[in-house]
Amino acid sequence: MLNGEYGPAAQKAMQILVALGDVYDAEKMAEVSNVHMPGSSVVVAGDAGLSFVEEMADKKACFKAFTTLNPAAVDLAKWSEIGFSKEAAEKQFRLTEAYRRMGGICTHTCTPYLIGNVPRTGENVAWGESSAIAFSNSVLGARTNREGGPSALASSITGRTPLYGYHLQENRRGQVHVRVKAKLSDIPDYGALGYHVGMIAKEAVPVFEGIPLDVNLDRLKMLSAALASSGAVALYHIVGITPEASTLQQAFHGGKPSEAIDFGDDELRDAKQKLSKATGSKVDMVCFGCPHASIGELREISEVLHGRKVHSEVRLWICTSTAVKSLADRMGYTEIIEMSGGTIVCDTCPVLAPTKDFAKRFNVSTIATNSAKLAHYAPGQCNLMPFYGNLKRCVEATAKGVWGK
Ligand code: F3S
Repeated sequence: MLNGEYGPAAQKAMQILVALGDVYDAEKMAEVSNVHMPGSSVVVAGDAGLSFVEEMADKKACFKAFTTLNPAAVDLAKWSEIGFSKEAAEKQFRLTEAYRRMGGICTHTCTPYLIGNVPRTGENVAWGESSAIAFSNSVLGARTNREGGPSALASSITGRTPLYGYHLQENRRGQVHVRVKAKLSDIPDYGALGYHVGMIAKEAVPVFEGIPLDVNLDRLKMLSAALASSGAVALYHIVGITPEASTLQQAFHGGKPSEAIDFGDDELRDAKQKLSKATGSKVDMVCFGCPHASIGELREISEVLHGRKVHSEVRLWICTSTAVKSLADRMGYTEIIEMSGGTIVCDTCPVLAPTKDFAKRFNVSTIATNSAKLAHYAPGQCNLMPFYGNLKRCVEATAKGVWGK
């Protein structure tokens, strides 16, 4: 490939991976048959990224690895109705089409593991999107580094990734011991835990002890997203849940942690307060589905919303994939949500959409959410100040237009 025998696109892709491998002293390449592509939104890729992806497609690049796409910048079907600009939509269509031509599956979701991209435990993959990376390494037990757009694209084309970092067993050893003492009762509690620990762990590997073994996947996806927002955690272990961490000893590879912390009621309260940055009480927008909502979450949202009306000055977005929405359509959840005045927004989310323009145009300045990741990024990426709370509190705010106690 490097010599150009497989065409110019494969040659360029292999040059990228060899350069990356040199930086990290990788001894060889690993084969990968599974990629999740970040940089699938034109807001993230920019004009330069769009040109590069189109150039690779024009050079007849063909994905060797099964590749799903991360969220786009707009809802590909309802962009105009929701209020996104024509310019953003047209650029997004070009980017999506270029990936499709190469063989990318146009999932446009950050929860590909909910709709059919589920790598095996121990499988080497090349995933982008911080929340999905942490979920893939820690819940599924697959092995991935934090891939960026160019390296993931190169892996899709070549079916290879440099063998370094989290692909190597020795780098998957737990480092920070987190003793969870607080009772975690809902999704924002898991987000607060991840937010607090991410700030301390930074790039290290936390090991959680004390998380209930019956924790569901929605809570784990929130934990993964939060850890990768305040910190850069790509791998964590939950004793008894992470496939390679059935005991504390196994999580630490028989060694000792470099640090041990407790997460109690004070830390829980403090993290939630830090995430709720909005002042005053007026709520302009409410958003669920960061990471993209599962069908179980859509069911719960529709149950809590049933019979209620979204306040005339509030926008309610529930972000998910088109695949999950089609199930919600069939189940009648979409109808309930739309009857109440809410919108199921597919393919995108406030962080990866041109939300700053949107907020300015529609005079939106606050957002209520149950997602620690969205609360963390909303001020900088969207110009929106967040209120942070559970589903019921957010739905109350949807109906009343104010953040209640
Ligand atoms: Fe997904 Fe967007 Fe949140 S990519 S994790 S919904 S910021």
